[in-house]
Amino acid sequence: MFSFFSGGKTLTDAFSFLKTDIHSHLIPGIDDGSQAMKDTIQYIQELHKLGYKKLITTPHVKAGIYPNTPQTIHQGLKEVQEALQAQNIDIVLEAAAEYLLDEAFENILQQKEILCFGEKKYVLIEISFIAPPPNLSEIIFTLKTQGYRPIMAHPERYGYWWGHLNKVAHLKDTGCILQLNLLSLIGYYGKEVKQVAVKLLEADLIDFVGTDLHHERHLLALQQLAKNSKIMKLLKQKTFLNETL
Ligand SMILES: [Fe+2]
Repeated sequence: MFSFFSGGKTLTDAFSFLKTDIHSHLIPGIDDGSQAMKDTIQYIQELHKLGYKKLITTPHVKAGIYPNTPQTIHQGLKEVQEALQAQNIDIVLEAAAEYLLDEAFENILQQKEILCFGEKKYVLIEISFIAPPPNLSEIIFTLKTQGYRPIMAHPERYGYWWGHLNKVAHLKDTGCILQLNLLSLIGYYGKEVKQVAVKLLEADLIDFVGTDLHHERHLLALQQLAKNSKIMKLLKQKTFLNETL
């Protein structure tokens, strides 16, 4: 169903220089990402064809909406790993989480129930699109004192920061590193997000990139991105921590 040939040019391995993706929603039925195992397997197969060797999938943890725990996530991970094995798909799949910094997050922190990844104990966090939490600096500080390295997911998508990129730069000063969504670069989330994404990338503020893949439309857009030589060239000029995982 997906074509990897366009104008005679193969898209296979377009993202192999990244090696690892650190942001996706591939465990079926536990958040707003993939809803069925067959879709999950198809997305993973296509990500593999795009060159990824390892996927660290990150289900949402949001109070009252997606109240995932290490147990729900690890159970789902195990089922996907078994399905991949049964189909001989040669890719490493791990799981962590994308934590919304809501009222429940402090409990999760206190109970030391955080899912992190990599030797540096990276923790992927996101915040409200309406307003940043007033205690953002404190939460980052607490995460750091507990030995974690927080990563802010898609800073380019928060409209309240568009005119204040110094605030995004300040996040890094406080020890929170940044993950850009690849799809922001082709305007998937709109013109402003694209402009901010390019600015952050060009200012060397971005540490990780991620697919944030939820569904087929994201996959199709990633395949479009892989064909965009201007953006691919910009990405390849930079070094990301993805390849260290
Ligand atoms: Fe996400």
